[in-house]
Amino acid sequence: EKGGWSSFMAKEVSEEPEAVANTIRGRFSDGAVTIPELDGLDELFLGIDRVIVVACGTAAYAGMVGKYALEQWTRVPVDVELAHEFRYRDPVIGPNTLVVSISQSGETMDTLMAVKYAREQGAKTLSICNTQGATIPRESDAIVYTHAGPEVAVASTKAFVAQITALYLLALHVGRVRGVLSAEDSAEAVSELEAIPAKIARVIETEQEHIEQFAGWMADTASVLFLGRHVGYPIALEGALKLKEISYIHAEGFAAGELKHGPIALIEPGQAVFVIVPSPRGAAELQKKVVSNIQEIRARGARVIAVAEEGDVSVLPFADEVLRIPLAAPLFEPLLAVVPLHIFAMGLATAKGLDVDQPRNLAKSVTVE
Ligand code: F6R
Repeated sequence: EKGGWSSFMAKEVSEEPEAVANTIRGRFSDGAVTIPELDGLDELFLGIDRVIVVACGTAAYAGMVGKYALEQWTRVPVDVELAHEFRYRDPVIGPNTLVVSISQSGETMDTLMAVKYAREQGAKTLSICNTQGATIPRESDAIVYTHAGPEVAVASTKAFVAQITALYLLALHVGRVRGVLSAEDSAEAVSELEAIPAKIARVIETEQEHIEQFAGWMADTASVLFLGRHVGYPIALEGALKLKEISYIHAEGFAAGELKHGPIALIEPGQAVFVIVPSPRGAAELQKKVVSNIQEIRARGARVIAVAEEGDVSVLPFADEVLRIPLAAPLFEPLLAVVPLHIFAMGLATAKGLDVDQPRNLAKSVTVE
């Protein structure tokens, strides 16, 4: 039930802190990750030489974020593929390939077909899923459930942060099993993750009203661009998807480094551009590059909305709006940076008088190919 909320989406965004907290609950002890569902699977994780993540839409963007953590902590190469593309291109898979599917509903036909196909080709399969007993986990060798709670709004929000959390837990677990991640580094990551729910709550508390206000001013905007780099890149894609999905405004996400290879031609006076700014402490080199991207687009008249760490003043001279996120280690920033983008999409669609829970032409779970 919606309770006192104006929409399921509003309720579900407000539940993003719990979605992360509930997904990590019971999976840590003494700074170490223990995922009961993965007990007895050490041999599987020791034997793999490659991971392919298959998913669609928002779940695929969670997968793209997860790739950074999986590669960093496990040193196993990771590819992320849209499930419908993977299935139809004769991919190279073998007995040492682990295919990780991500699905909120667990019923997405494209993802299910990709998992079945991977199994037929002899791969091992692991499902990250939010729905107990759904078809995709039943077709998989291993399951890690996200505990975001039921998601009703068509646009996925709290499930997204839970999917990233589950991927990080998986990466920490596999990294430890394979002996490539130290207990110390794992404990540090665990404590970063444990701090995330309160930080998301702070973003909602401090920025929601501000975002809804300027989203209201932007109700007539024809197009919004989103730029991000490293783990901010999939967040840019997610921000754009959410906006087009529920507000019907043209939106595109780009890797910030790609700007000069084409998209900068789109920049004209008044073009709204969200920029996810990496941490100046944790990712100083990338932060400088992104700030120089901001200068480039600002010089061409873009209206810049920066999502930046608290205390990062370098963006102030060039940004029309600054949305603040609390400090976190770089790999954990996506869990914070996405929150203002979810609120923005919702705020803009609401300002246009649209039904944010039931966008046109879309279904919550896509059970046809
Ligand atoms: C976006 C959205 C969709 C789903 C996609 C996968 O807001 O909701 O892009 O993420 O259809 O759905 P699941 O996760 O159920 O497989």
